[in-house]
Amino acid sequence: MKKNIQILLVVLFGFSCNGPLDNGKEKFIDDLISQMTLEEKVGQMTQINLTVIARGPNKWSSSFPMEIDDDKANKALVDFKVGSVLNTINNTAQKPSVWFKNISKIQDIAMNNSRLGIPVIYGIDAIHGTTYTDGATMFPQQITTAASWNPENAYNMAQVCAYETRASSIPWNFSPVLDLGLDPRFPRQFETFGEDPLLVERFGVEMIKGYQGLDNDISNKYNVAACMKHFVGYHATISGKDRTPAYIPENVLSEYHIESFKKAIEAGAKTVMINSGLINGVPVHADYNLLINVLRNKLGFEGVILTDWEDIRKLHDRDKVAETQKEAVKMAINAGIDMSMVPYEYEQFFNDLIQLVKEGEVSMDRIDDAVKRILKLKFELDLFQNPVTNYEDYGDFGSKKHHQLAYKAASESITLLKNTNNILPLKGKPRILVVGPNGNNMRTLNGAWSYSWQGELTDRFAGDFNTIFEAIQKNFGKNEVKYVSGVSYKESGNYYDMVEDDINKAISEARKSDYIILCLGENTYTEKPGDLNDLNLHQLQIKLAKKLAEVGKPIILILNLGRPRLISDIEPLMSAVINVYLPGNFGADALSDILSGKVNPSGKLPYTYPAFPNSLIPYYYKPSEVQNNSQGAYNYVGEVNNQYDFGFGLSYSEFIYGDLEINKDEFSLNDTIKVSVNVKNSSGIDGFETIQLYSSDLYASVTPDIKRLRDFKKVDIKAGQIKTIKFDLPVTELAFANSDNEFVVEPGMFELSIDKSSREITIR
Ligand code: BGC
Repeated sequence: MKKNIQILLVVLFGFSCNGPLDNGKEKFIDDLISQMTLEEKVGQMTQINLTVIARGPNKWSSSFPMEIDDDKANKALVDFKVGSVLNTINNTAQKPSVWFKNISKIQDIAMNNSRLGIPVIYGIDAIHGTTYTDGATMFPQQITTAASWNPENAYNMAQVCAYETRASSIPWNFSPVLDLGLDPRFPRQFETFGEDPLLVERFGVEMIKGYQGLDNDISNKYNVAACMKHFVGYHATISGKDRTPAYIPENVLSEYHIESFKKAIEAGAKTVMINSGLINGVPVHADYNLLINVLRNKLGFEGVILTDWEDIRKLHDRDKVAETQKEAVKMAINAGIDMSMVPYEYEQFFNDLIQLVKEGEVSMDRIDDAVKRILKLKFELDLFQNPVTNYEDYGDFGSKKHHQLAYKAASESITLLKNTNNILPLKGKPRILVVGPNGNNMRTLNGAWSYSWQGELTDRFAGDFNTIFEAIQKNFGKNEVKYVSGVSYKESGNYYDMVEDDINKAISEARKSDYIILCLGENTYTEKPGDLNDLNLHQLQIKLAKKLAEVGKPIILILNLGRPRLISDIEPLMSAVINVYLPGNFGADALSDILSGKVNPSGKLPYTYPAFPNSLIPYYYKPSEVQNNSQGAYNYVGEVNNQYDFGFGLSYSEFIYGDLEINKDEFSLNDTIKVSVNVKNSSGIDGFETIQLYSSDLYASVTPDIKRLRDFKKVDIKAGQIKTIKFDLPVTELAFANSDNEFVVEPGMFELSIDKSSREITIR
């Protein structure tokens, strides 16, 4: 039987694998499916964790060095015909050669010991570089990249990551995150491109292109299949905690959350992972309406729909919508799931689904539909011909060329938020004290999904790169720069636990210094371990900042965090504030170059930086958020009291905006609005400025947002130069989703604004 397939493949591979499958390839998949037993089909729909088939004491943990266990692998891949494997062992990065050896073995067992010889598809989370590969290039996290307001950085990250993931023999990446990062409390905000739907869309599409190639040819050995996640509405929870209930009306889902997935699907994204939470009381994994009516039918998604971790089980165990696990399997598969990230108890999933088909509870058509999509993906990835890529063919893995792109992204993202009396860049040859828990480690620069899930192993793997302290020493001199932690993160326990170690030493060193570079923020976390009860910066960090401020030396606050922790208590004590977010392995070098003036900062916030725990709203709030009746009568011009606004970020240059012009006053629905503005760099320093075009719908049938970003351009403006920046804005881009969930532009008055200028227009 296997021979037949091989003969068929020889004939077929005369064709190119690009684009949609042509008739011949379609026929190959159909022929294959026609030969498959129910068991073989259900096996294809099953994804297991690597630890299940690796040597070690049990399914959950493995022994080092990583090795595939013959018996376990034969049981899973041959007896149970499992078609997909994910993750690493024990949450630890491996060398490319180790990946090659082990994935080769997996493919060997799957293809040579089984009847039909179908390759396994291996998937991994490589979300800001190839997370689980020792030596891979670690870029800034998505939130940082968004702060560059230059989508090219997302493309570069994805393209390098695709290359290095393939160099690790892995063809499928569970990235990008297309969730809207609208809640500063949520423990995965850093994995997003921030709170604005347009930013998420633009950066998300570039990630798809970077992963899958500009021609969308994933058979190319430098490209991987992308996996959009987590469809949909994952971050919009009530509590701000991971995987907790969200209540989202359909039109809100459409307008703010779905568009990024729509655009990524249009860009050709091959796979999608489902939101592990629940919306309006329905777990998304069991939501036929969202998966079939919306994702398949409305958005036209044809690729593979994958669950998130153990999420079919959770329909029974956690969400209590299925009385048994078997019922949970039925609900999820009938709702449209193609592949289950089981990832441990695969026998049970396998047996339950076979039973359900035999009992007529899940139709054979549904199974065939799922299997066809999975086989098509494997085919498009060229896995039947080339089941494993070899690290020896990837000379640019971890290369200088890749490192430079990661540095570039960090240097364009780091955001200067305060610079009293132009204290920065630092002048002369100052004595500097670097202080604080984030000042001398690689872990906090990278965040989670770095060499391990929670990022706790980073210093072991990234020791060759510079911490903030080391990078500042490099630019300002070894003897001039000292480091004292003051307070630090506890080695064990919760990621947010802190200990006070030497605040007095920090104070005495501060007295001997000209500047204090205070590095505060967060330790690394993601998912449930990152849930938070208090958005304020940890009290010990606040204490350290206040004590240092008493010394009277200028303090430059460096924020190194995955979400905007509140600093309103200490911000007035700071001379300068810089947000580095999670800038990756080259983030400290980029920061140090900004401090010295080698790099002129150009990042802008991709989220609203709140000042108070009860004022957590994105910039596109509704007018009622600012109502106040302090004068005895309501008025609607109050402030939202942010620490820093969305889109805000300073430069060493000064930019002056003028002459905002719009080509007409009145437009019809088919028109394109032409907007132009002059921006002058009035300083003596070359710089980059991001020009942001916003619209406000003045009256609408659904209360309009105060404003919405409609376009942006980051441009290089030389010292003294004036540039005219032009935008073409189709009127249709002003649409919102009305209460019937239809995108409409309602005729009437709109305001378009750039910087502080605005113009009114009428749509007829
Ligand atoms: C996360 C996903 C991730 C998956 C596989 C889940 O817990 O929610 O984002 O892709 O694990 O590691």
